[in-house]
Amino acid sequence: MKKKLIVGNWKMNGSLAANAALIGALKDGLASQDADAGCGVAVAVPAPYLAQVQGLTEGSRIALAAQDVSEHAVGAFTGESSVEMLRDFGVRYALVGHSERRQYHGETDAVVAAKAQRALAGGVTPIVCVGETLQEREAGETENVVKRQLAAVVQAVGHLVTELVVAYEPVWAIGTGRTATPEQAQEVHAVLRAQLAAATTQAEGIALLYGGSMNAANAAQLLAQPDIDGGLVGGASLKAADFLQIIAAAG
Ligand code: G3P
Repeated sequence: MKKKLIVGNWKMNGSLAANAALIGALKDGLASQDADAGCGVAVAVPAPYLAQVQGLTEGSRIALAAQDVSEHAVGAFTGESSVEMLRDFGVRYALVGHSERRQYHGETDAVVAAKAQRALAGGVTPIVCVGETLQEREAGETENVVKRQLAAVVQAVGHLVTELVVAYEPVWAIGTGRTATPEQAQEVHAVLRAQLAAATTQAEGIALLYGGSMNAANAAQLLAQPDIDGGLVGGASLKAADFLQIIAAAG
């Protein structure tokens, strides 16, 4: 039975004090859950807090994730963080191609693919984010959009496709409280699974996460879908009780 993965994306939220309180509450809550039976858990924190949260999560079930990674190895790329720098802080996962970076930073499919390649080369698992806008969904373009976004990465990483984590995040569901229905989410996850199956015989082992207003109330129904292997959680990951309920729902 494939273990599910629940990742909290803190986005640009937190403080030294708030982070300590949140991780402390998560550790206390997880202590009562069987670490062997439970799902994988990670938190994607703002880069300035990687050192602090590495220390806070040391020895716990909580893995560390970055919210981005440079596609470059080293050099004159002001403001960017290389995969080697992330590894210095024990980072295990890196989000690549989050819709907010595609929207606000113009990240193209080619840049996202290069980021995924770089992450893999540096020993960090990329969580490749794909998803359509409301306009694209209403135009019937959902499948074309997510397949195009994923294809760029699959083509770039080759046989390492089995090392990816993929997150389907319909843009219209992010931060809106308007969650995709389990059926809507499963439909797209099945498309992504089929696309991966065309690239590898091990597609069933690739974790497909859902993100977009996942919360304590809807997590169980979403996670019960055959091709939803976990969640990428924004707002609800900032509240320990809610995030713990989502983790518990993942089994
Ligand atoms: O990366 C996860 C995020 O985009 C989802 O945000 O607040 O809708 O759970 P939220």
